Amino acid sequence: MPVRTGVIGVGLMGAEHARLLTDAVSGSEVAAVFDVDPERAEAVAAASGARVFDDPMVLIKDDSIDAVLIASADKTHEQFVLACLAAGKPVLCEKPLTPDVAGSIRIVAAEVELGRRLVTVGFMRRYDPGYADLKAALRSGDLGQALLLRCVHRNAASVPVPSAVLISGSAVHEIDIARWLLDEELVSVTVHCPRRSSNSGDTQDPMLLVFASASGVLVDVEVFLNAGYGYDVRCELVAESGTVLLDSPAPTVRRAAGSLARAVPGDWRQRFTEAYRRELQDWVDAVAAGEPPRGASAWDGYAATVMADAGIRALDTGRTQDAVPRDQPALYR
Ligand SMILES: NC(=O)c1ccc[n+]([C@@H]2O[C@H](COP(=O)([O-])OP(=O)(O)OC[C@H]3O[C@@H](n4cnc5c(N)ncnc54)[C@H](O)[C@@H]3O)[C@@H](O)[C@H]2O)c1
Repeated sequence: MPVRTGVIGVGLMGAEHARLLTDAVSGSEVAAVFDVDPERAEAVAAASGARVFDDPMVLIKDDSIDAVLIASADKTHEQFVLACLAAGKPVLCEKPLTPDVAGSIRIVAAEVELGRRLVTVGFMRRYDPGYADLKAALRSGDLGQALLLRCVHRNAASVPVPSAVLISGSAVHEIDIARWLLDEELVSVTVHCPRRSSNSGDTQDPMLLVFASASGVLVDVEVFLNAGYGYDVRCELVAESGTVLLDSPAPTVRRAAGSLARAVPGDWRQRFTEAYRRELQDWVDAVAAGEPPRGASAWDGYAATVMADAGIRALDTGRTQDAVPRDQPALYR
């Protein structure tokens, strides 16, 4: 029996997840769809053979649905994740787990109360082959200790957003991947605000964030939503005996008309397709086997939200802010 997933929210990300779950993940089918925009729900349901629900809470409780994927707007995540926990259903929730720390605390508390892990957060970079190589290089010990992590996160263009979204929506990926790569917590953050791009309206874009880890590694992150040329994510590990660079991994280099060029992905769906596919396959396999999820946990989602929240305070105050997470419950150790 394939794992029958219900997808809530089928905009850009949810439609892509539904496509991958239908076409690229084995042992999986999209059995149900809900979106507040019924046309979107119908379009995705038609492509995947799913049934359209008109109430997301009914979808979550339906006995024919084994697991739920949430890719609706950030502020709606909490109510759906809590409903999945109440129904005892595995749930993959897109990042951020919640936009606010209090919401993430409520989810962690509900999962701890339940006593078993059902929540996965969609920090898919953990499944990207390039980041996996970086982690393996650090773990091997050949390079000595990590000293710096230098990150770039650029989008081609963005609709106007509040400046805080560069942190809560974009840099939150670097927060999670830095915690995962370094295997330790980030403890403080400073935000630097250079001249704003004239293409970015009132948004502070670009922005430079500098995080410090518990052991003293510095992680700098440039976020630039209106970089103009494409979606460009890079990460360079600087260690005691060498460096490892994760560059924009185009498979081919073009030589023509006197120039040498590599294509840059248009957006995150192109750049991270393989990471999304691996994330979904791993999630479906764990659900099928009745095993705890192996991706980012609700605790990881909470820790990322705590750090993003500190980043927004650093942006607002112009001063370095500490992030102080609560004690990690035994369920997540
Ligand atoms: N992991 C990643 O790389 C990545 C990339 C992009 C977006 N995201 C996350 O995925 C989520 C969706 O982002 P997106 O870019 O697809 O946005 P989007 O605006 O394209 O899609 C959001 C969808 O949610 C629907 N929606 C809104 N409120 C809803 C509700 N109460 N119930 C059901 N559906 C509702 C909207 O109608 C829309 O179809 C966000 O949480 C975002 O942060 C993650």
